[in-house]
Amino acid sequence: MKIRSITANEVSVLRDTRLRALRDSPDAFGENFEAIAGRPTSYWNDQSAAVTEPHRNVLFLAFEGGDTLGMIYGLRDPEDKTAGRITGMWVDPSRRRSGIGRALLQAVLDWAITEEFKTVGLWVAVDNQSAIDLYRQAGFVVTEARGRLNEHLAIETLKMVFEL
Ligand SMILES: CC(C)(COP(=O)(O)OP(=O)(O)OC[C@H]1O[C@@H](n2cnc3c(N)ncnc32)[C@H](O)[C@@H]1OP(=O)(O)O)[C@@H](O)C(=O)NCCC(=O)NCCS
Repeated sequence: MKIRSITANEVSVLRDTRLRALRDSPDAFGENFEAIAGRPTSYWNDQSAAVTEPHRNVLFLAFEGGDTLGMIYGLRDPEDKTAGRITGMWVDPSRRRSGIGRALLQAVLDWAITEEFKTVGLWVAVDNQSAIDLYRQAGFVVTEARGRLNEHLAIETLKMVFEL
């Protein structure tokens, strides 16, 4: 298994993996599979540019041979230059509990160090215990901030933060 950031010529890999994640785990993400699956090529090109152009965001994928096993986004906080955000964390169900999530998380934390961020934050559904355990084990702390998941407003979310 190898983790690396996606490159500009892998737009179809980005699309396929993101759609697999949305189809598999609809309650984990603030986007709707049907709506995103119907987006035009220009949307996916913009998504790719946002994670491959210099000084923007990153998308790490876990690969094994030609298969993609998981993904995670590292984003810049648009309002705070010292803060990063994690979103879109997903591991293929057939390969869970084998350390891929932990390795993806570490890839974003390593990126955050090179960017000299002071904190990395994320939002997770309050009942997503496996993800909360993963983040807590990596050193993230639950804050008092609470919200609702976009597109699934019945789902309450909590904010976790990692201090670098
Ligand atoms: C959450 C998720 C990314 C974890 O990925 P993973 O590759 O299975 O995680 P890892 O194998 O690296 O697990 C690392 C640690 O996380 C915790 N963890 C992960 N899955 C767990 C589970 N099902 N139950 C309890 N703890 C769990 C454990 O502490 C684990 O360490 P351990 O195996 O040594 O006990 C994966 O379950 C997933 O894709 N879920 C659906 C999408 C999702 O919820 N994404 C998060 C959105 S915020």
